[in-house]
Amino acid sequence: MSNASSPVSHGPQDGTHRRPYEAIQWRDDALWLLDQTSLPWRVDYRRITDGDSACEAIRALRVRGAPAIGIAAAYSIAAVSHALDPRTDLVTAFVEVEGTAAALAATRPTAVNLRWAIDRVRAAVTGATTSAEVAAITLATARTIHAEQASADIAMAAAGAALLGNEPSLVITHCNTGPLATGGGGTALGVIIEAQRRGLISEVLVDETRPRLQGARLTSWELKQHGVPHHVITDGAAAGLLGSRGVGAAFVGADRIAANGDTANKVGTFPLALACQYHGVPFYVVAPLSTFDLATADGVSIAVEERDPAEVLEAEGVRLAAPSASALNPAFDVTPAALVTAFITELGVLRPPFAATLRQALGARGATIPVESVHLT
Ligand code: MRU
Repeated sequence: MSNASSPVSHGPQDGTHRRPYEAIQWRDDALWLLDQTSLPWRVDYRRITDGDSACEAIRALRVRGAPAIGIAAAYSIAAVSHALDPRTDLVTAFVEVEGTAAALAATRPTAVNLRWAIDRVRAAVTGATTSAEVAAITLATARTIHAEQASADIAMAAAGAALLGNEPSLVITHCNTGPLATGGGGTALGVIIEAQRRGLISEVLVDETRPRLQGARLTSWELKQHGVPHHVITDGAAAGLLGSRGVGAAFVGADRIAANGDTANKVGTFPLALACQYHGVPFYVVAPLSTFDLATADGVSIAVEERDPAEVLEAEGVRLAAPSASALNPAFDVTPAALVTAFITELGVLRPPFAATLRQALGARGATIPVESVHLT
């Protein structure tokens, strides 16, 4: 895999984009990623045409968020296929696809969407008879996954906003789950943006999300773009503020949801769920069906990514901790299903008992069910 990634300091120029920014785009036979490590200071795009650059972008969190890394991986396989010489034979094209797929799948272990999207592209391409068809099918599949996520985001936003009362509420969120994290309208943050549009949000409390600060850097930036009033808080302040400020609901995303409803999400989600239970605040997990993994029985079986201790011990390369300090850096934690009030999906709101309602919803995947008509309790 050759290295052909190049950072640029401008966005796409084709005039087709309705949002103020697009996290993931396909243009000029290549994948373009909004480099999330440059936010909130600069909106930079990276052009990805090879597997090494794609893997580096996912590992370094240039693109991040469970659905977004799945979509980016699918387009990356398409980009690698498009970069092949048109005279490439079919076997060589398949070897490139499989090698790129395996490397991408190994980048991050926790978010199930990554593996799900890669396997979908691998399955779709098996019928190709030429390398040109490999390129066409991988791109069509990536576009379909991207479009499905965008429409799932719209359905989740409507279903989640409908859970809030008629009076504007103070809500809390953790990590970043906005358009940046899905390539569409977002999961939990999509609900909040839609609820604000309906006049149902007074303010949002945004956990800063140690150590990579997805809340402070990304969620705050996205809420500003959408005109949603908010305050960034330290993660440790959440439990106290839930009670003293009268928070009405918590909305978070997910990276993998096991068959029993145990939910892996950004580290710090579990303590927020515990605090919500103490204060009687509804705790909603917003996730598309592609984040549910019925093959994983419960949270104990979910692999939690361990990241570089330097993310905890340093900030922007400056040492914060004592020179002798070492660190543990699990990137995710697992919230037990018992702390989840409901899952908000593109099929509607799923309530306990989750083992049954999740099975029923996943069985209905692909069926067209109006959000309002789904009552899986
Ligand atoms: O390590 P990250 O930034 O990729 O973690 C992302 C999260 O935990 C998100 O909250 C989750 O993927 C939900 S995204 C819509």
